[in-house]
Amino acid sequence: MQQKIKKAVFPVAGLGTRFLPATKAMPKEMLTIVDRPVIQLAVDEAREAGIEHFVFVTGRNKGVIEDHFDKQFELEETLRARGKTEQLKLLEAERPSAGQTSFTRQQEPLGLGHAVWCARELIGPEPFALLLPDVLIHARPGCLKQMISTYEEKGGNVIAVEEVPPDQVSNYGVVGVSEQAGSSFTINTMVEKPKPEDAPSNLIITGRYILQPEIFHHIANQDPGSGGEIQITDAMKGLMAEQPFHALKFDGTTYDCGNKIGYLMANVAYGLEREDLGDEFRTALNAMLDDV
Ligand code: G1P
Repeated sequence: MQQKIKKAVFPVAGLGTRFLPATKAMPKEMLTIVDRPVIQLAVDEAREAGIEHFVFVTGRNKGVIEDHFDKQFELEETLRARGKTEQLKLLEAERPSAGQTSFTRQQEPLGLGHAVWCARELIGPEPFALLLPDVLIHARPGCLKQMISTYEEKGGNVIAVEEVPPDQVSNYGVVGVSEQAGSSFTINTMVEKPKPEDAPSNLIITGRYILQPEIFHHIANQDPGSGGEIQITDAMKGLMAEQPFHALKFDGTTYDCGNKIGYLMANVAYGLEREDLGDEFRTALNAMLDDV
């Protein structure tokens, strides 16, 4: 029986410069996919996987994220007074309960590994999930839930991976695997943003992790790596000498909402599958495409 994964870390300190001017005064994590902020979709995925405590590593100008997961008392009272029960139910259903969220700040942009390290006191001595909200994964069950099944079966650390064309590997962390049988396999090496000729495979790290708490010792002693930043991939490589790491080739579709095309595609995909909007949107979209 593995120790239950109860906490998840969401690094949300990034500046979002690729989405300026939208992100001048608003965190990039609050950009919406149809009508849900990107960060809400990551929290939805974590909640579906059984996560009970949501830890956000924020930075300056990210206060709205904290407000988003709070009870908006005046708004909810106004909706109640006006009999808007549907909207009220929507807000209530997705709000974490009091005490289920924690916020800490990454004071300097020293890298993803450093952002995770900032959550060490809030996580404590237990395994936890790490979700990079820019990476939106459309999957049923959700990607983290699929990973929890692998974790329950195998224990250790679990990383979601997917294949990309070899010329794209240098944008990501890349894993090497010993043998591939089925959808989960043992990782034997990993490298952050390798040159295509140095990549151990074309299996990239997709932005979902289940990690044992010993990762924090490795991050604490980790030298800066790719881009001069403290990389979680380098710390995981260190931990790999002590503990097993499993890769899960999850079943689902990834949208990289850190770039504009991925973000636009996510809006189309999530819009098309909406019961209340899908048909009308499809018709409008087809008409628009016929026109261009
Ligand atoms: C981060 C990780 C990388 C991973 C990627 C997924 O990189 O360091 O290993 O493959 O997220 O999107 P970043 O996109 O922050 O440069």
